[in-house]
Amino acid sequence: MLFRYCTFGLLVGSIASALPSSDVKKRKLGLPYSTISKDIIDRDGNPVLFVGSNWPGHQETMLPEGLQHASVKDIVSWIRKFGLNSIRLTFAIEMIDDYLSNSPNQTLERTILNPLGDNGTSVLADILKHNPQFTKETTRLEIWDDVAKELARQDVILHLDNHVSKAFWCCALDDGNGWFGEKYFDVEKWIRGWGFIAKHAKDHWPSFASVGLRNELRSAKQAEPYDWYTWHLHMTAAADAVHKSAPEALIFFSGLDYDVYIDPIPLGKTLTGTKGTATENKTAIFNPSKHAWKTKVVLEIHKYDFEATQDDCATFKKKWYAKGFQAVDLSNQAAKYHLPMVISEWGFIHNGTYWNQTTYAKCLTEMVKDYHVGFFQWELSGSFYLQTRPGRVPQATIQGLEEFWGLLNYNWDGVRSPVTVENSLDKMVAALG
Ligand SMILES: *[C@@H]1O[C@H](CO)[C@@H](O)[C@H](O)[C@H]1NC(C)=O
Ligand SMILES: *[C@@H]1O[C@H](CO)[C@@H](O)[C@H](O)[C@H]1NC(C)=O
Ligand SMILES: *[C@@H]1O[C@H](CO)[C@@H](O)[C@H](O)[C@H]1NC(C)=O
Ligand SMILES: *[C@@H]1O[C@H](CO)[C@@H](O)[C@H](O)[C@H]1NC(C)=O
Ligand SMILES: *[C@@H]1O[C@H](CO)[C@@H](O)[C@H](O)[C@H]1NC(C)=O
Repeated sequence: MLFRYCTFGLLVGSIASALPSSDVKKRKLGLPYSTISKDIIDRDGNPVLFVGSNWPGHQETMLPEGLQHASVKDIVSWIRKFGLNSIRLTFAIEMIDDYLSNSPNQTLERTILNPLGDNGTSVLADILKHNPQFTKETTRLEIWDDVAKELARQDVILHLDNHVSKAFWCCALDDGNGWFGEKYFDVEKWIRGWGFIAKHAKDHWPSFASVGLRNELRSAKQAEPYDWYTWHLHMTAAADAVHKSAPEALIFFSGLDYDVYIDPIPLGKTLTGTKGTATENKTAIFNPSKHAWKTKVVLEIHKYDFEATQDDCATFKKKWYAKGFQAVDLSNQAAKYHLPMVISEWGFIHNGTYWNQTTYAKCLTEMVKDYHVGFFQWELSGSFYLQTRPGRVPQATIQGLEEFWGLLNYNWDGVRSPVTVENSLDKMVAALG
């Protein structure tokens, strides 16, 4: 509904012989994207919206999930079957660190067996059975390349999200990945990682459109000061690194407290440091027009239903609006910067009833319809290779964990809860139609 595939038919034919096939594909998909006021626009200036789901690839194996249950091709085809045009693929900086240090742990065999132990042998065999294009020597990055090529082949736009530094499930307070300078969140490695992967994506992934600099920033006891000044300092530096490597990519900026608010940015607030810390008295203003990437800035926000809301939709929307929707409301005089926004995570358990137990699903759909913002549902996966959640009892790490929030079932071969999809995802897609 949102891409104009057909109108490119003639153009594609006429340039096909002159350009590498990845350039033809980019044109067909309307890439590159840029921004104007509150809209993301394609290469011809038509507004486009991300209508997608999330596909995690940031846990211990650092591979996109599900490959032991289905082929890359079949997994990608689900994205299309759900009526989506894009996917938010999540990665860990650790994957890039390993690549840059030429670690022997990057082969499919090692990346599965290291975290899964003896049980990994059968997982590895299943991956190779469903994906005979790989061998146990294929590296992580080669597998990502294969996934990216298949996404492009099926016309799925790729949004690359840096979810964590150290590869395990996100996100908990003080889990080491949450804030600049925390135990695993080495800012230099993060920026270096972006410089590398943005260039790699630009050069090798034909439907690569955009990056999310960092998922769900949150406070940490032992890290740099938790404030918007520090946010500005590091997020703009990472954006510079991405832009230098991939000047055409959109750059998504997430907010604080697990990305539940970003209103200081559209409101043009002075971004301050923290008294009694190294950022005391420091201030910054986030003014997109001051940067080389001024036509690439997108804001992202997350919305879950942890409070099991029973608010009526007027109340729900009013409360949520204040968290950042000023950015996309041209009638809001208080907004200094109008910028596109994307709801890069939303979701809930797909058990057949939850969609109707709170007002969340209904009100979220209304919000998307009212403000016409794109989204990525959380998530596609029906199950994981393994998942580590620090603090979970009795076991922090569980192999083969089922994902009850997933669009797909445990074996990745069917829809987990058709009634849930009909009453949430389908309505969200229709709201943007
Ligand atoms: C490879 O993984 C093993 C097992 O997790 C670990 O002990 C080793 O340090 C890793 N090697 C490198 C070079 O990262
Ligand atoms: C290996 O798999 C078995 C059988 O599914 C399971 O009981 C066991 O907990 C797994 N091992 C680890 C370390 O998770
Ligand atoms: C911050 O500003 C206050 C008021 O001007 C001043 O007293 C204080 O010394 C400053 N702190 C630093 C670290 O410069
Ligand atoms: C679905 O999950 C919700 C929230 O945990 C629960 O209240 C409800 O009973 C569940 N429905 C079914 C059919 O299990
Ligand atoms: C649940 O579904 C019923 C029937 O469609 C509807 O009247 C009711 O408003 C829904 N409840 C919520 C919380 O969405």
